[in-house]
This record gives sequence, C-alpha cells and structure tokens, in this order.
Amino acid sequence: MSEPTLLPPSKVTSHHKTVAVFPGSFDPVTFGHIDLIERSAVVFDEVIVAVASNQEKTPLFTVDERIDMIEGIFSHNSQVKVETFEGLLINYLVKRECHVIIRGLRAVSDFEYEFQMALMNRKLAPGIETFFMASSALYTYVSSRIVKELASLGGDVSDLVHPLVEKEIKTKYPSR
Ligand SMILES: Nc1ncnc2c1ncn2[C@@H]1O[C@H](COP(=O)(O)OP(=O)(O)O)[C@@H](O)[C@H]1O
Ligand SMILES: [Mg+2]
Repeated sequence: MSEPTLLPPSKVTSHHKTVAVFPGSFDPVTFGHIDLIERSAVVFDEVIVAVASNQEKTPLFTVDERIDMIEGIFSHNSQVKVETFEGLLINYLVKRECHVIIRGLRAVSDFEYEFQMALMNRKLAPGIETFFMASSALYTYVSSRIVKELASLGGDVSDLVHPLVEKEIKTKYPSR
C-alpha cells in the first residue's frame, strides 16, 4: 500500500482567500443584484462584480457608468470589487486565478440557459464551479430590462433600484 499523499504545504498552513466572481450586464444594477452581492459577501471572502463589456449591442449605460454605480453603492464594503471583462468569462477567471462563478436564479425560466452555461463553462475549465443563488422573493420579478422599460415610460423605479441608480436613470430619460 502506498503512503498517503500529504497535502501541499500551502493548503495546510495558509488561509486561501475564496474569491467569487459575479458576472453580468448590470445595465443597470438592481436591488436583485445588490441582494445577491451582499449575500455572496457573507459566504466568500471577496466578491468581484464583473461587468461584461461585450454582451449587449445597445446598452443604456456605458461599462464605465455601470461600474461607477456599483462602486458607489458598495463603497462601504471592501469585500466587493468591481471590474470589467471582455470575451470568455472563464478566461477572465483563469487570469484572475479565481474558481467560483455566482449566478442568480429568479424563476424556472432562468434555469435552462443558466444550466447550459454552467455545463459549458465546466467543460471549458473543469476546475471552475458555478454556484447558483435563489433570488430573494422580494426581487424575483426585478430585472434590468424591466427597470429600463418602466423608466422609459415614466414609471417609478424607486422600489427596484438604489437611489444612486434612480438618479442616473433620470438623466437618460430626462423628459420623464
Ligand atoms: N432580481 C434578481 N434576483 C436575483 N438574481 C438576479 C436578479 N436579476 C438578475 N440576477 C442575476 O444577476 C446575474 C446578472 O444578470 P444580468 O445583469 O441580467 O446579466 P446577464 O446578461 O449575464 O444575464 C444573473 O445571474 C442573473 O440571474
Ligand atoms: Mg439577464
């Protein structure tokens, strides 16, 4: 019988910071996103909110505007970092030496696409795991798209987004 393999010293002696990446469009960030980020930060040492720069063709906010809003909201929380990435998400994770992707699930309708993405990402990078978090019942119906639609029609979005985001949305739809 062979000797049991010892764990490499790094795994025994040093505490590895567990960093999770929460990728998305965040056009704009909503209370649904914020809730997920806050709850992730309880479980993981650091949460990187990764704003995709190549997802949507005609976004309402530029990547910089989206980053500024998220940074403004989480300025009090040093566990939360905001970055942008281009191209394949897993390439970004490998570059950042990060192994955890967080995604939110609002309804069954989210599941099929998310499951497909998670399996594809695992095929491309077997060491990277996707963690799904159930949305809060309060924000299950909230999406960036709904926020934009409502705001463009002059509706009140104060229950759906942070005041800082509400203010920025008003500059995009000034006549409302
Ligand atoms: N109201 C919400 N509650 C929980 N998770 C949400 C909510 N809205 C969006 N999410 C999650 O946030 C992540 C980013 O969403 P989104 O900004 O729409 O980017 P993407 O273009 O990748 O879908 C996704 O995992 C999505 O499921
Ligand atoms: Mg989405």
